[in-house]
Amino acid sequence: MQFHPGFITFEGGDGSGKTTQIQMLHDYLETQSIFHLTTREPGGSSAAEEVRKILINGDQKKWDSISETLLFYAARRSHLTDTIWPAIKNGKLVISDRYADSTVAYQLYGYQNTNITKEQLDILYQMIAGHFKPDLTIILDIDPRVALSRVQKRGEKDRFESKGITFHERLREGFRKIASIDSNRCVLINANQSKEQIHQEVIRLIKDRFL
Ligand code: TYD
Repeated sequence: MQFHPGFITFEGGDGSGKTTQIQMLHDYLETQSIFHLTTREPGGSSAAEEVRKILINGDQKKWDSISETLLFYAARRSHLTDTIWPAIKNGKLVISDRYADSTVAYQLYGYQNTNITKEQLDILYQMIAGHFKPDLTIILDIDPRVALSRVQKRGEKDRFESKGITFHERLREGFRKIASIDSNRCVLINANQSKEQIHQEVIRLIKDRFL
């Protein structure tokens, strides 16, 4: 099928169903023989997967908020140069589970890191990516209380609850704000629907913009 190569990102809080939706989209693109690549952050290239390990494994307090933020950008730069840009150049539709909006939503809104400003994040972003941006960002929006009942079912309740419900509320507000500021690029989908309904909305967006 004819399509335009490009870059799609999925964003949302824990339990919003991103990973399931990316898998369903991948299956759909396979059936349509659309040349694509699914990837993720933090990670997505061999060096960035190394950084993911040092960010996610072990003592969460080993990095202060500034070091942690810089590691997300270091990993993102490698993800861009080694994976995303070459794949787009090869004509692929690239789909990433999280990207730069996660840093704004988690580090600024969720964790409220007071020693980091949005202006600094914008400068770091420009340093690693220039003017490159996703063509489409799908934000799965869900009430954290509904998300909590989902993660409970897959045994990840502790990880969710350790951050606290107010953290998840701030995170949701952060993503909603990002969507309202950049409304051409970002589309908010109500994630409190069946996975099939959400998938249909995702397919409609992809068809509108890339096929
Ligand atoms: P992961 O296991 O991939 O979680 P999820 O399935 O929710 O994507 O872990 C990634 C974690 O890293 C997740 O809690 C979000 C967080 N994160 C940030 O805090 N900042 C970022 O810039 C990115 C990309 C992720």
